[in-house]
Amino acid sequence: MRSDDAKSPRTTGVSPYLAGQYATYITFTLREWQRGYRKNNPDQMAVVAKKLSAQEIAAVAAYYQQSGSPREAGRGATERANEGVS
Ligand code: HEM
Repeated sequence: MRSDDAKSPRTTGVSPYLAGQYATYITFTLREWQRGYRKNNPDQMAVVAKKLSAQEIAAVAAYYQQSGSPREAGRGATERANEGVS
């Protein structure tokens, strides 16, 4: 499912809502942008992705994964981890 799908509760309407997204998925799709496999936003997303090093991709992927979904807003990563919900 595309993250800007109109039916998705995570939509921002323009660009994808990434909070709580799996790091492995973010890493994968950023590499796809870098390699030119995704073409639907060549002027913005491809340009941004090509500027990122492997280390920077790992950092943003880890950041978004731990940042949680809107449903979990206000609750800390530690709390979620203690409940086994991440
Ligand atoms: C470091 C900065 C950024 C990161 C880490 C990032 C990350 C991502 C990721 C992971 C996706 C794939 C989402 C998916 O497949 O569900 C994506 C798609 C996209 N991003 Fe970014 N992005 C960044 C900056 C930007 C900027 C500056 C813009 C626009 C000004 C932008 C616009 C978009 C658009 C339009 C898509 C395509 C949405 C779709 O195909 O459904 N991004 N981005």
